Amino acid sequence: MTLVAKSSLFQQRLIHTSVVRKDAPEVPDFSKYRTNIDSNRALSYFVVGSLGVLSASVAKSSVSEFLQTMAASADVLALAKVEVDLTTIPEGKNVIIKWRGKPVFIRHRTAGEIEEARSANWKSFRDPQSDEDRVKKPEWLIMLGVCTHLGCVPIGEAGDYGGWFCPCHGSHYDISGRARKGPAPLNLEVPAYEFTEADSKLVIG
Ligand code: FES
Repeated sequence: MTLVAKSSLFQQRLIHTSVVRKDAPEVPDFSKYRTNIDSNRALSYFVVGSLGVLSASVAKSSVSEFLQTMAASADVLALAKVEVDLTTIPEGKNVIIKWRGKPVFIRHRTAGEIEEARSANWKSFRDPQSDEDRVKKPEWLIMLGVCTHLGCVPIGEAGDYGGWFCPCHGSHYDISGRARKGPAPLNLEVPAYEFTEADSKLVIG
């Protein structure tokens, strides 16, 4: 009898605890506030797309501004080329001009110097190069005045070969600017240049 009564109580408790509370808060129905799902999606795509276009345009403008700062200014471009009036340089004389921060040697060679430069056995030199390959006109020798050893500026009309001599470590260049003696491994470099206005002007660069 007691067992039946206990079991009945337990049953009641179980039933009681599993029943939904009467005072549970009611969840309001928001369904009438919900708009069309498709239009929401379209709005999302529009917002994301707009942000993408905005970001791309900002990136493009930043890259353009960066490239503009990297571009050479007008005065730098002007220095990129140098014009020289060759009529002012007598035969047998050297002139040194500055181009892009470096000295450039211009030698108005005599007929004897041209003959000397072309008769040399250039194939046996450490940097084999014929005189014909180093000049556009035999009488005009144009080269960078930078020693190919460690970058000193050689002295003109000096050295064992009647061309240029670098006093820093004793390199000798001939009348074509070719390395003939001393530590210089290469000939003096020939820059890009051209003759204009009936060959009376030289443009370097
Ligand atoms: Fe000219 Fe060394 S820098 S010989």
